Amino acid sequence: YLNYRVPRTRKEIFDTLVKGLQRLEYRGYDSAGVGVDGPRKNDNGDNVNICLIKKRGKVKALDEELYKNDSIDLDIELDTHFGIAHTRWATHGEPNAVNCHPHRSDKNNEFVVIHNGIITNYKELRKYLKSKGYKFESETDTEVIPKLIKYVYDNSENDYVSFSTLVERVIQQLEGAFALVFKSIHFPGEAVATRRGSPLLIGVRSKYELSMEQIPIQYNSTGESLSLGTTLDGVIYLQDDDITAVAQGKLSLHRMSRCAGEDPNRAIQTLQMELQQIMKGNFKAFMQKEIFEQPESVFNTMRGRICFETNTVVLGGLKDHLKEIRRCRRLILIGCGTSFHAGVATRQILEELTELPVMVELASDFLDRITPVFRDDVCFFISQSGETADTLMTLRYCQGRGALTVGITNTVGSSISRETDCGVHINAGPEIGVASTKAYTSQFVALTMFGLMMSEDRISLQKRRLEIINGLRMLPGLIKEVLTLDDQIKNIASELYQQRSLLVMGRGYNYATCMEGALKIKEITYMHSEGILAGELKHGPLALIDKHMPVIMIIMKDACYTKCHNALQQVTARQGRPIILCCQDDPEITKNAYKTIELPQTVDCLQGVLSVIPLQLMSFHLAVLRGYDVSHQENLFKNVGIF
Ligand code: F6R
Repeated sequence: YLNYRVPRTRKEIFDTLVKGLQRLEYRGYDSAGVGVDGPRKNDNGDNVNICLIKKRGKVKALDEELYKNDSIDLDIELDTHFGIAHTRWATHGEPNAVNCHPHRSDKNNEFVVIHNGIITNYKELRKYLKSKGYKFESETDTEVIPKLIKYVYDNSENDYVSFSTLVERVIQQLEGAFALVFKSIHFPGEAVATRRGSPLLIGVRSKYELSMEQIPIQYNSTGESLSLGTTLDGVIYLQDDDITAVAQGKLSLHRMSRCAGEDPNRAIQTLQMELQQIMKGNFKAFMQKEIFEQPESVFNTMRGRICFETNTVVLGGLKDHLKEIRRCRRLILIGCGTSFHAGVATRQILEELTELPVMVELASDFLDRITPVFRDDVCFFISQSGETADTLMTLRYCQGRGALTVGITNTVGSSISRETDCGVHINAGPEIGVASTKAYTSQFVALTMFGLMMSEDRISLQKRRLEIINGLRMLPGLIKEVLTLDDQIKNIASELYQQRSLLVMGRGYNYATCMEGALKIKEITYMHSEGILAGELKHGPLALIDKHMPVIMIIMKDACYTKCHNALQQVTARQGRPIILCCQDDPEITKNAYKTIELPQTVDCLQGVLSVIPLQLMSFHLAVLRGYDVSHQENLFKNVGIF
């Protein structure tokens, strides 16, 4: 927002917005767009008063578009200048200019909106608005919002309804999570922003540019600290159900009418840190932030797909292929690194629920072996980025042999999600940390949901299905509980960080956790670590156990409990000092352990979602204690883009 009293050229406004977007780009992006005031020809050749420019790709591509597009007069001077801009990380619809924000109500751009979050009831709203004659141009959930506000505006009985009242009426109809900014040709120079469930901050450039007349805020800044580069003095953190409006240079804030009486006071907080740090919150690194995000990311994977009232699971991207999948010869789960481990983690439950043979394969090895693949095979390609070369090559290899291919990715529009026949988007949100954490637990949950969908008609499996669905319902809460163990885990890490090696041992449903935990430890801490199948202990690894070798054992109350207990006895017999991840209230284990990390118990096949978290945390703390910068790992890179 630029001071409204001074006319500005459109170029200045664009540059301000583009600079802002560039600073957000590290979060992941696939397309970007801006909406600013001023005339531009619409598709019919008429002048419209909001100019939208959207482009697939990096912010740089958008910037170039602004300068090469002759229909945009950059030198025009504007009195009203409230621009909105957005970088997108796709959840609904592939990344392209149409799906990118701002979204609009109609060809005249009467209302335009940018949105972060997910609108879960968008299908119902879309159906309703279509029945009222609205034509949709994108595949996004967001597009219902500008259409809905136009609908409310056109159908308002009173002659004058303020912009914020319109917004309030619209958000009453929305379900899900959102941070929204609206702009409209009916309210030039104005904008309204609101949030529910997704974060939203207002950046305050200078107290002199902000009229305080309408906003009941306290200015906490001393005024001298301009630490966010030179751009911002402070920020206002909006709360859920806050509605803020900017009109004629004044910022106002009120609570939604259903929250009437609640305090609308918001302090302007002085910024002492870079934007990237703000986005990281109080966390030292994105990896740590993403570990703590898992209650929400796992919930988002399930959101709108599991109905806990009817105990049904619908994965929209797979439902048309279910018949074919049910008739297949076998399921092959293919991935690399952590994504491969998600396959290992869910293999057993998929075997049980689908009653099909399930193979789990490392993409590189699968290709090296020139593995036979048949037309009636169903091959799953698990990949956070959707771009991993080995996984992508294996996908093309399997497609060439006529198998049905299914993508399990976190990146809509990535090569794997485009090239597979069908798939599931895990909706974990952008994963920026080099080490994969929240993508793993979301892949785990997505694959489990696939098993539940496959077994819907199996009478003999109903009890088991119910147990798992109930477990999924409780999972975000239990993840929160596990995250409270962080301090305890940090203490244990402080005893271990000078060791050269760390073994992680378990079996059954928790074997994948051992491999995944060991991978996290080696890649982040540069310490040797190995995941060992407890059943293999006596076939070699036992030779490593002595009082000097730290061993983490996973012993949960499941079908492998007694066998794990035997492994524990072998470890203690060699004076090993096991640190045991176990269920709460298990005195038998506690008395044989050097230390325990007690976890809440869930259904056996979901326990791995909980048991991996202490190891994610442990690897993070070990790395910090060993003096590594977790955000900048040598020898590692992450596939983030699709370009
Ligand atoms: C480990 C890690 C890697 C990735 C692997 C596959 O923390 O991040 O092992 O899991 O490179 O990447 P995606 O899932 O993007 O195919």
